[in-house]
Amino acid sequence: MTLLLLSALAVAEPPAVLPGLEAETAAEAAVSAPPSGLDERVEELLRQMTLEEKLGQLQQLDGEAGGDYRPEHLELARQGRLGSTLNVRGAKRVNELQKAALESRLRIPILFGYDVIHGFKTIFPIPLGEAASFDPAAAERSAAIAAAEASAAGVRWTFAPMVDIARDPRWGRVAEGAGEDPYLGSVMAWARVKGFQGEDLTAQDKVLACAKHWAAYGAAEAGRDYNTTDLSEHTLRSVVFPPFRAALEAGALTFMSAFNDLNGVPATANPFLMTQVLRQEWGFEGFVVSDYTAVQELVAHGLASDGAEAARRALGAGTDMEMVSRLYNQHGARLVQEGRLPLAVIDEAVRRVLRVKFRAGLFERPYAELGRESPVLRSDHLKAARLIAARSMVLLRNEGGVLPLDKRIRTLAVIGPLADDKRSMLGTWPADGRAEDAVSVLEGLRGKTFPEAKVLYAKGCALAGEGAEGLDEAVRVAQQADAAVVVVGEDADMSGEAASRAALDLPGRQLDLVRAVLGTGTPTVVVLMNGRPLTIPWIAENVPAVLEAWHPGVQAGHAVADVLFGDVNPGGKLPITFPRSVGQIPIYYAHKSTGRPPDAKNKYTSKYLDSPVTPLYPFGHGLSYTSFELSDLALSAKTLPPDGKLTASVQVENTGNRPGDEVVQLYIQDADASVTRPVRELRGFERVTLKPGEKRKVEFPLTPEHLGFYGRDSRFIVEPGLFRVFAAASSVGGLEASFEVVPK
Ligand code: NOJ
Repeated sequence: MTLLLLSALAVAEPPAVLPGLEAETAAEAAVSAPPSGLDERVEELLRQMTLEEKLGQLQQLDGEAGGDYRPEHLELARQGRLGSTLNVRGAKRVNELQKAALESRLRIPILFGYDVIHGFKTIFPIPLGEAASFDPAAAERSAAIAAAEASAAGVRWTFAPMVDIARDPRWGRVAEGAGEDPYLGSVMAWARVKGFQGEDLTAQDKVLACAKHWAAYGAAEAGRDYNTTDLSEHTLRSVVFPPFRAALEAGALTFMSAFNDLNGVPATANPFLMTQVLRQEWGFEGFVVSDYTAVQELVAHGLASDGAEAARRALGAGTDMEMVSRLYNQHGARLVQEGRLPLAVIDEAVRRVLRVKFRAGLFERPYAELGRESPVLRSDHLKAARLIAARSMVLLRNEGGVLPLDKRIRTLAVIGPLADDKRSMLGTWPADGRAEDAVSVLEGLRGKTFPEAKVLYAKGCALAGEGAEGLDEAVRVAQQADAAVVVVGEDADMSGEAASRAALDLPGRQLDLVRAVLGTGTPTVVVLMNGRPLTIPWIAENVPAVLEAWHPGVQAGHAVADVLFGDVNPGGKLPITFPRSVGQIPIYYAHKSTGRPPDAKNKYTSKYLDSPVTPLYPFGHGLSYTSFELSDLALSAKTLPPDGKLTASVQVENTGNRPGDEVVQLYIQDADASVTRPVRELRGFERVTLKPGEKRKVEFPLTPEHLGFYGRDSRFIVEPGLFRVFAAASSVGGLEASFEVVPK
């Protein structure tokens, strides 16, 4: 078979695989184009800067936990030696520190950064949950609200989105990303960058986005945070890079380097990542900030024997700004004097930082507007948080019509350690979100039932630990009720950074609690709140109704109540595979076939002796209170040239008796390629809302960007051969068609 290089794609990298990306990119180019005269202004400043001032622009320092700055920050700012801060926030404080910077010799403003991950004060679902909505418009909206609130507090830069693909749920930070799939991850990365930055980076209600963690942080060995990664260039380009590329195409002007070692070179000092791919291949014009003390950590990695060498390696590789550790400033001048680091490298890093500051409008509008910070949460923001949380929930199981619950219910039991735990609803990285603003599930359900209904509550057990004291009371409460809702899972600190887990069961006695409640015979619903997939085979087998709610944010309880009582028909889908056991990890839908695909009748095929190979719940799975049927999968062509396009269309019908949402998913398989391809790859999805009996034809373009892959030489190609197309309601099953790419 001939390898075919598309002339249009004869660069090492195609546009990210996103529908309509090329058109959008052109529009975007106009939006985020640098202002005229930018380079002259940057050069003019650079000419006047001392080496000390230059190094100062490359330094980011941490504020106090509550958002205050320290006296040292004021001093450095006055000397023009503080480029950026993280965690300093609050319009008044930001302005005080900014004033000091503007009193410095060259009056270069400080860039104020903060981790606004899924909301600033109005907290939305964790990003993994939001990805489960399969609704990029929702992700864009929540990011826009977060930007509006954060910018009111003087924040000009968020360290989000985290676009790391994660296929190991032991890694706690799966909570912060969009899950296992590069296509879904790219769509969500794009949407979130657009939401944070909008069309005008200088607007007062926008913040700069930062794509992190560049790169491969999500592939930590054994799911242990900060751990080593080792991936082929093929996997990097096919799986890890696409969401970063999408973030860049959406206009992200900053990237954050990852903590991890990648193929023997820690990301923070990795020229392949920072220089070759990001700058030379992709033409990135922004700057890279290190992760927290990651430059210093090059010593622990063993890549540098001391701080000076660490600084030299990180700067030399293209990490422009140093977060928290101060090695650039401590050693930069000496490295230049000794001829170990060309001054040109520092100049270039400073240029990049200044360019972004200009493009963000920081010189024109350095101060935060006073009076825009709202002491209370805005009702329209809360409304969005409630809707997006409900759209993020995934109905994993619903046997025997337990759900939706009837609002005329007389007695409802609400049970579980998370049923009334407001802090945990907010999840990891809640920014300035406050537990007291959150609505617990207990409160949400109380608000939804008729006034004459009795809502009983029992905690049942602690979230973790062996204590069984509450189980009896939970049983008593369940016995009195017409239905029981048991809210179990992980608390906010069990996922996120430095929150890897070796077991993914429900912690403590929570499974015993579920068993005990179910044992009463009362119809039981389990609501899961967690930052990652959990291994819950017993629940999946025995509990009639299971709702995955993730950590849903400030409106958690209302959103759960909306779904449980059917005011919102659940339509979310899993953005990550749920394994049966930890032993199956890594498990993801887009795996390769192997030469010996599992075959129950043949021992010598790829499987386990002690477990099925299939997941507990596959990627893309999610039920509804209504039913849908897909039909009439049609392709607009049976053959096409490698640079051709076709359209796949499929009919979706609501065959049940309630309005509802289905996420129609389109997968491809390149069955005949010079590099083995996954058994399926998502290449399109659409969340549609249909009334009972309503039908809709959904169309998906399939362009070279969707059909190509990285060949043996790491170039993007579309090869002639057979392609299968699947239209489905999850990554399993569905309708199948095929076409052939033929040589021109
Ligand atoms: C470390 C985390 O890895 C990163 O994601 C975060 O932005 C920084 N700390 C700053 O808080």
